[in-house]
Amino acid sequence: MRQVIRDLPGSKIREVANAALGRDDVLAFWFGESDEATPAHIREAAVRSLGAGETFYSHNLGLAELREALARYVSALHRPIDSGRIAVTSSGVSALMLAMQSLVGAGDEVVAVTPVWPNLTAQPAILGARVSRLPLVVERGAWRLDLEAVRRAVTAQTRVLLVNSPNNPTGWTLTRAEQLQLLEHCRRTGTWIVADEVYERVFFAGAPGDCAPSFLDIAEPDDRLLVVHSFSKSFLMTGWRLGWIVAPPGLAAELAKLIEFNTSCAPVFVQRAALAALGQADRTVPELVGRLRVCRDTLVPRLAALPGVVVAEPAGGLYAFFSVEGEPDSLALAKRLVAEAGLGLAPGAAFGPEGEGWLRWCFASRDPSRLTAGLERLSRFLKL
Ligand SMILES: Cc1ncc(COP(=O)(O)O)c(C=O)c1O
Repeated sequence: MRQVIRDLPGSKIREVANAALGRDDVLAFWFGESDEATPAHIREAAVRSLGAGETFYSHNLGLAELREALARYVSALHRPIDSGRIAVTSSGVSALMLAMQSLVGAGDEVVAVTPVWPNLTAQPAILGARVSRLPLVVERGAWRLDLEAVRRAVTAQTRVLLVNSPNNPTGWTLTRAEQLQLLEHCRRTGTWIVADEVYERVFFAGAPGDCAPSFLDIAEPDDRLLVVHSFSKSFLMTGWRLGWIVAPPGLAAELAKLIEFNTSCAPVFVQRAALAALGQADRTVPELVGRLRVCRDTLVPRLAALPGVVVAEPAGGLYAFFSVEGEPDSLALAKRLVAEAGLGLAPGAAFGPEGEGWLRWCFASRDPSRLTAGLERLSRFLKL
């Protein structure tokens, strides 16, 4: 086994979840998904597809109908794009890996804005790239980007800038002005931007249905930009494993070759389900975000009111990221919360050293009273 694989850290979130194995009394908020099942119309489309015997390989880049539907969906949200720029992938995480495989090789420099979901930084490391971390700055629980630090970190030697906004775990979301500056800087240095925008629809700062600022709103088609998307978060489809990439014109054909050697294609019945999801996106996504907003507003102000707890309202994403005074070791604290309070949270250290001392609470639930029950367990644990 390559040393780089041996050196990969195991998931600290799994480590906490494993500490709860065999216990059914734990209120778990550690993983990044809702406890709401995929809507029936999406599941039924998959069942119909399987019933019709659609059990074969499809095109590397996905069904033509799905690529066209995605082009319409993306064009309605951002600038018009052609379906030829879309590659359907077997999950968002696979889309990220394909983006990395297509851009970086051994020794290349990748700069990642952190803290961040650990897969983003592990993937280039697996490929032998050198990953430098560009920490967000935190003030009273709110995270922000230091643009000067970006200008210093991203140079003509930097192959890829990795940005995830809205961000998992912090909820930090790029502003349009920051996005423009990042794009201009990366144009100057010749650096690719890999934008992980899987939470773009899970955005609370605008009107219902609004998206977080996207690089697709401002980039020219031939900018060095790969945007990664997923069906997981906005369509409650985490278990289905479907995502897509928006690439500059001409590059989808290259991605098709790479997809052949990774997964070859996404399952057809999953793609049919995705078509059904997109067909009702105008209604279902704002409704889902409305429910998630209730969850966020149930959890965050009550968390903020607990003495010693520091948290800011996240603009997007599914998470409250908070610290507890006097608790610097997030893994130890998360394990004690499981053992002593029956509360399952993700340790901030899972998202890199910048997340140490913080905990991530996924607030996506069909039943906000689970969140208040979790809050009671936390208060009791903190002896408040
Ligand atoms: C920031 C980020 N990017 C990408 C993904 C990948 O999503 P999926 O592989 O389920 O499509 C996730 C999932 O948690 C995520 O948090």
